[in-house]
Amino acid sequence: MSATIAVIGLGNAGLPLAAVIAENEIEVLGVDIDPVRCQRINRGENPIPQETGLDELIRRHGGKSLVACADYQEARSCQVFIVIVPLFVDHMFNPDYRILESAFRSIGRILKPGDLVILETTVPPGTTERLVKPWLEEESGMELGQFHLAYSPERIMTGYSISRLREFPKVVGGLDEDSGLLAYQVYSRFIPHLSLVSSARVAEFIKVMEGCYRDVNIGLANELFKIAGDLGVDFFEARNFANHQYCHVHLPSTGVGGHCIPVYPWFLIREMERLERFDHARLLRTAREINDQMAEHWAGQILLQCMRLDRPLAQVRICVRGITYRSGVKEFHHSRNLALVRLLMDKGLQVYAWDELMSREEVEAKGLNWLPPQEADLVFDTSTLKMEMPGGGA
Ligand SMILES: NC(=O)c1ccc[n+]([C@@H]2O[C@H](COP(=O)([O-])OP(=O)(O)OC[C@H]3O[C@@H](n4cnc5c(N)ncnc54)[C@H](O)[C@@H]3O)[C@@H](O)[C@H]2O)c1
Repeated sequence: MSATIAVIGLGNAGLPLAAVIAENEIEVLGVDIDPVRCQRINRGENPIPQETGLDELIRRHGGKSLVACADYQEARSCQVFIVIVPLFVDHMFNPDYRILESAFRSIGRILKPGDLVILETTVPPGTTERLVKPWLEEESGMELGQFHLAYSPERIMTGYSISRLREFPKVVGGLDEDSGLLAYQVYSRFIPHLSLVSSARVAEFIKVMEGCYRDVNIGLANELFKIAGDLGVDFFEARNFANHQYCHVHLPSTGVGGHCIPVYPWFLIREMERLERFDHARLLRTAREINDQMAEHWAGQILLQCMRLDRPLAQVRICVRGITYRSGVKEFHHSRNLALVRLLMDKGLQVYAWDELMSREEVEAKGLNWLPPQEADLVFDTSTLKMEMPGGGA
């Protein structure tokens, strides 16, 4: 194989990108530390079946124009390295850079003059310059200018990654002018809607900004929803008429889950703490608090509803319908629905979970009790926020 592009990290974000590159008749080498995943991809098997359209691309290109391997040495003849490995945060939401560091140091050891390295993982603004550049320089013995470095955020959405890569605008920014231009040229071979921005830092900020916008607006919707309830106003009716070209009130929820939106505001909150600009991220922090408290809010509402049933609280079978972090996606990262179930359990109530994406065994493996909604006394649907009493509340 004579691939010039390597995609580092073939997970939910990296594999769809590698497949789209291959679909554009460009040979691509995927590097992932998981050898079993690599073998499956090379056999044409899609390890992410829930990703729309990916089956077909992996069947067509896996082991042919998309070859996966677990050894960075295999990528030494590549000239472009696109990195999409995870950035985890600790329990205080401080980024843990170990995976990124390991990936970039591995690339640094095989980097050649003129090569281009692009980071796609969402990171605190400034990371490409402050951390990635020195890692590459230390390992390669070269300085920026001898190699190129850019940032381009992955803006996919689990389940719709292929269509997002084809339809959604992508941005790219270089650490220097040459890097930006070169990265723009590379992406324009397989990304139709592409913009070059003035720097890697701007590109980094764009992605984090999106997450903050979503979190703050969901926080606003959750706050307005609670206030509407207190004032006897039907929030959904009001929202319907309030929304227009200049006003888009989001939907209320049980909170915000997933790998991205609840985490990205912390990137800026922690950066502002680092710079001792504590006042500059107050709204972000408040939105985080409001959204995280929604599970507690709903636990209280469910408890109130239970008390209206004509039987002892401990005998009321409560079913929480939908426990993944959002409907339609079988992922649990920071799932506030799961947090709600656990909160109700902690209150000593008889709580069951049900999810259309999960079998009884899968629910029970999470340490939860399983019950079909029609057998419960009270059902709380986490996507509609509606409460029902299948037995009519008797
Ligand atoms: N999944 C999404 O919807 C999504 C959306 C937007 C952005 N992102 C970004 O993509 C990043 C990665 O997310 P993901 O969902 O693909 O994660 P993932 O856990 O699905 O996949 C990560 C992959 O990287 C591999 N890996 C780990 N360490 C490695 C290393 N040192 N070298 C090579 N491979 C390594 C793992 O084996 C795994 O296959 C996130 O941190 C986020 O910034 C993800």
